Amino acid sequence: MQTDASPQPQNPTNLPIWQQLIATQKSFPKTRLQELFATDPGRGQRLNVTAGDIYLDYSKNLLNDEILQSLIELARQQGIEAMRDAMFSGKPINLTENRAVLHTALRAPADSQLELAGHNIIPDVYQVLQRMSDISQQIRSGQWLGHTGKPVKNIINIGIGGSDLGPVMATEALKAYSQRSLNVRFISNIDATDFVEKTQDLDPAETLFIVASKTFTTDETMTNAESARQWIIGELGDSAAVARHFVALSTNRDQVSAFGIDPNNMFEFWDWVGGRYSMTSAIGLSIMIAIGTDNFMDMLHGFHAMDEHFKTTPLEQNMPVILALISLWYSNFWGTQSEAVLPYEQYLHRLPAYLQQASMESNGKWIDRQGKPVTYTTGSVIWGEPGTNGQHAFYQLLHQGTVLVPCDFIGFQESNNESSNTQGTHHDKLIANMLAQTEALAFGKPASDVAKDNVPDTLVPHKTFYGNRPSNTLLISKLTPNTLGQLIALYEHKIFVQGVIWNINSFDQWGVELGKILAKQIYGELTGQPPAPHDSSTTTLMQRYKNSSK
Ligand code: F6P
Repeated sequence: MQTDASPQPQNPTNLPIWQQLIATQKSFPKTRLQELFATDPGRGQRLNVTAGDIYLDYSKNLLNDEILQSLIELARQQGIEAMRDAMFSGKPINLTENRAVLHTALRAPADSQLELAGHNIIPDVYQVLQRMSDISQQIRSGQWLGHTGKPVKNIINIGIGGSDLGPVMATEALKAYSQRSLNVRFISNIDATDFVEKTQDLDPAETLFIVASKTFTTDETMTNAESARQWIIGELGDSAAVARHFVALSTNRDQVSAFGIDPNNMFEFWDWVGGRYSMTSAIGLSIMIAIGTDNFMDMLHGFHAMDEHFKTTPLEQNMPVILALISLWYSNFWGTQSEAVLPYEQYLHRLPAYLQQASMESNGKWIDRQGKPVTYTTGSVIWGEPGTNGQHAFYQLLHQGTVLVPCDFIGFQESNNESSNTQGTHHDKLIANMLAQTEALAFGKPASDVAKDNVPDTLVPHKTFYGNRPSNTLLISKLTPNTLGQLIALYEHKIFVQGVIWNINSFDQWGVELGKILAKQIYGELTGQPPAPHDSSTTTLMQRYKNSSK
């Protein structure tokens, strides 16, 4: 491993401010949100921050101005500003892979300059964007013809993890902006069901596969890509058909050629783009095809606007910093282990899944930047579902369960689908539900109030809401390509800030490797290779599978 020329955060628990926060928390549980609001009538007007089109209300959290100040001081003492500058300027802050972390360069203005090893990378970014735009326009206008001369209208992205979740999330989020005559689908799982179900109603002559893989070695993706190739060649009866039915998104030109995809149909990105931070790179081609170049560029502008906010705004008003610190306050000082992301927007139904990878693959680490085990909690479990569906599923636990789950509520002032009927207006009802949940979680309903409703004594405890359950509310003007970009960049930078404070490397993912190696070995054994020693559980399961499946 080479040495890092960038700043080095340390074990945060060694900082006096960390110890001070522990002491503060010990006295704080006695304070209730009810009192915080009652004794501070301006709290709701004060504890908020605006960045671009996003308004963050963080007043319904178990903290006060002093605690927030201490958390900001913690971030400052861990060198967040220096690390942020190191990231933006291309220092190799991904220590274990000796790589720069420059997803922010993917959405920098065309006339900006960013030198990496003496080479300005911004023109490279725009050259790829231009090629993406060209092919997108050809496909959207029906000019990209398949091998038999039919226009392509089915676009299937084959990829997994960062080469799938961002494009799926964004094409779903921006469906209202998409060209509906195109059928954009995603195959990720190595389970044949995914491939079969996504292709069985399609005409191969009208289908283009985008093989999306940073490494171009990921087993799931290469297996699905091979099935796609056989499907195309088998159905169209000519191996030359691959040229018109496959494009690749990758950093690995050699593997793309080896697979048989013409490098002219490869859209490049670079090792300084992490997989889970890659949706604004060539990996976003399926998004661009769905929504068009102008909308895609508008999404990049939204990302860039939040990048600039993060880069230039004092920590006290810096939205990603505040979001990160509030989350860290709960996980490190209150002992919470999960966070719910609750979009009140059907189009964002894949956002929680996207944020799961972004956050958990980045910050689920127990070894610090110096190679030592951490002595404190790092990454939280991220989960969620869109409102109002979640309300009828798991909100019971949020309101009356025994664990504390901080929540992010995300709502939009204007809907992309205004609709009302004699029952009322959908969007007003949706947002009313969101606000009601934040209020109910924070303030609850005490037993004394329940009793006033003529509730039988035996039911009073069951109907009591203790409240005091924290949440953030993100209120955004309207879901557009631009605001989606702002929102995703907000979470990217939140994750970065937390990783810096936890003194971990948010940009590697060694924890996924062991399973991949063992799967390869077990696959060999299931398909005829001599058995290797395993534990008795795994051996018995393998035996049982082999006996039943053949
Ligand atoms: O296995 C984890 C991972 O490496 C992710 O980090 C990545 O997003 C995903 O696999 C896909 O990798 P690739 O784009 O190289 O196929």
